[in-house]
Amino acid sequence: MILFEGERLQKVLARAGLGSRRACEELIEEGRVTVNGEVAILGRRVEIAADQVAVDGVIIGVAPGLVHYLLNKPRGVVCTASDPQGRPTVVELVPSDARVYPVGRLDTDTEGLLLLTNDGELTHRLTHPSFGVEKEYLAEVEGEPSRGSLRILREGVALDDGITAPAKVSAVSPSLLKIVIHEGRNRQVRRMCEAIGHPVQRLVRTRIGPLRDGSLEPGAWRVLTVDEVRALERAASVER
Ligand code: URA
Repeated sequence: MILFEGERLQKVLARAGLGSRRACEELIEEGRVTVNGEVAILGRRVEIAADQVAVDGVIIGVAPGLVHYLLNKPRGVVCTASDPQGRPTVVELVPSDARVYPVGRLDTDTEGLLLLTNDGELTHRLTHPSFGVEKEYLAEVEGEPSRGSLRILREGVALDDGITAPAKVSAVSPSLLKIVIHEGRNRQVRRMCEAIGHPVQRLVRTRIGPLRDGSLEPGAWRVLTVDEVRALERAASVER
């Protein structure tokens, strides 16, 4: 008796966010998919927890059913699963096969990197304050902050919910600041800049812990590689 174990490869690929099942069948037909290092043919079944699946040499899949998307959030898109005012949401920008949620929040006016996942354990680690991973922002501000103002940003700013933790701050140009924080307070960067008298005009998140991607167009997303998920887990396992 022949046992057909595992799941069809195109289904696993589609769930990992690589496109529709039909699109994933084409990837297989084009010879771009390997299973345990060997080029796969259509009809192949895999055990995602045991077999190593790669597309164009990039390994996919961390665990069965888990998906991790990295989105370049455009301005004007809301960071919730649904919006009572009917504005576009980040969840609408990624595939809907799995029910994913944004990890933390970006303001509607903020752009840049955002993770969406159904991986509850990773979400917990990334959002729990004691594991706060670094997040890097580029903030275009009004005016030109003085060196003294930058020092205040670095050392701690008094906000209405307390003094901010030390941050890494540098001026890329007189009105463009690179700010790295590891707290996740509401509108933190905007409030910090406002507090020194230089309100933010444009805010872009450029890094989440070890994750960067300067090549995703606004509104575009991709699946995280296994290595990226592992690197995020490592970054979020150091208690501060
Ligand atoms: N800080 C802010 O002020 N806004 C964001 O969206 C993220 C960090």
